Amino acid sequence: MTNKDYAELDSKFISNTYKRFPVTLEIGKGATAYDAEGKSYIDFGSGIGVTSLGYCNDKWVDAVVSQVKTLQHTSNLYTTIPDTKLAEKLCTATGYKKVFFANSGAEANECAIKLARKHGVSKKGEKCCNIITFQNSFHGRTITTLEATGQDVFHKNFFPFTNGFRYVPLGDREALNTAVDDTVCAVMLELVQGEGGVIASDKDFVKYAEKVCRENDILFIIDEVQTGVGRTGTLLASEQFDIKPNITTLAKGLGGGLPIGAALMDEEVENVFSYGDHGSTFGGNPVSCAGGLAVLEELLDNGVLGEVKGKADYIRSKLLEIPQVKDVSGLGMMIGITVDDGYTSAEVANRCVENGLLILTAKAKLRLLPPLTITKEEIDKGIEILAKSF
Ligand SMILES: Cc1ncc(COP(=O)(O)O)c(C=O)c1O
Repeated sequence: MTNKDYAELDSKFISNTYKRFPVTLEIGKGATAYDAEGKSYIDFGSGIGVTSLGYCNDKWVDAVVSQVKTLQHTSNLYTTIPDTKLAEKLCTATGYKKVFFANSGAEANECAIKLARKHGVSKKGEKCCNIITFQNSFHGRTITTLEATGQDVFHKNFFPFTNGFRYVPLGDREALNTAVDDTVCAVMLELVQGEGGVIASDKDFVKYAEKVCRENDILFIIDEVQTGVGRTGTLLASEQFDIKPNITTLAKGLGGGLPIGAALMDEEVENVFSYGDHGSTFGGNPVSCAGGLAVLEELLDNGVLGEVKGKADYIRSKLLEIPQVKDVSGLGMMIGITVDDGYTSAEVANRCVENGLLILTAKAKLRLLPPLTITKEEIDKGIEILAKSF
C-alpha cells in the first residue's frame, strides 16, 4: 500500500483532529525514518519531543521487549519492579521525594493541579484554589489543562471549562504581584514555552516568581513536559534556572516513545495525597516504566545527556549559516527558527517533508526537537535539506 492509500484509510476511519503531512511512517532507526514507500527522512521532530533516544534505540528496545515478555500490566493494587525502579532513579537524580505516574503530559499537569488545590485548601481554606499561569502557555488538552493554558484560542467550543485560573503576561512582575492573593494556591509555568513559539523564559523573572511563591506560601509548579528529561541540556531545565519547584511535571521524552507522565513532588507536597485522592489504571505501567528507566540510564549513566549541549550548539551554529534563518530561539535541543519575510513556516515545513526532513512548526516559527542521540551526520544531512527547502 502507498502513503496515499494509508491517508485515505486514515481520513475514512480516524477522527478528523490532526492536519497530517502526506506521509505514512513505517520504520525508524536513530534519527532516520522510512515511509510506506521506502523513502527516508531525517527526523528533527522526534514525535514532538518523545523519541528522546531516537527510533528503536537498542538498549531501549531490549528493556521494553524484555518487560513485555515478563509482565505487561497489573493494577496499581500491587507494586511492580519497573515503576519502583524508575521512581527511585527519578527521585535520586532530581532530589524530589515522590512521584505519581500518569500517562501523558496533560495528566501529569492534572495531578499537579489536584495536588496544589488540596494543599491550598487544607492550609488556607476552600477559597485557596486559584492557580496563576501565563499568557501564551500550553499545558494540555483535557478540559482543566485547556483552561490552564493561557491562550484564548483554546478557550472555545468546550464550555463549561474548569474555573480557577488567572493568566499573567510572562515576565510582568507587577501583573504577577497583582494576581497573587490569599485565594491563590500555585503558580505554574513552562521554562521554555514550546507550543507557544519556543520562547525561553527570563531567568530573573522565573527566580522572582519562585520568590513570590515562597513569600506568599504558594506552590511553585514547573511544567517540564517538553523541556524535561535532557531536552534542554540538563535533566531538568530548572537546573539552569537555579530554582527548586515544589512540583515538576514530565512526560514526552521520559518514556522514549511509550505513554508516560510524571508529577515529581518535593517535601512540601509529598504527603498531600492520601489513598483514593488520585489514580490511573495505566499509570506506572511496567512496559512504559521499563522504557523510561532505559531512557534515564542512557541519559545519565551512558553519556547521552553530556552530549546534548554540544549538539545543540552545533545545530544552532549551522542553522545561523542558512541565509533565510533570521533568528534561533529556545534552549538546548528545543529550537525555534524565525524565517525571513516572504516565507511561512508551514510552507517551508511542507517542502522539508517533500525533500526528506521531518520538522515541526510552532506559531510562526519552524521548530526542531531532534532526538537527543542524533548523530553529526544526521544533523548535517537534515540542515542541508532544510537549507535547500527555502
Ligand atoms: C509544556 C506542555 N505541557 C503539557 C503538554 C501536554 O502533553 P500531552 O500531549 O502528553 O498531554 C504539552 C504537549 O505539547 C506541553 O508541551
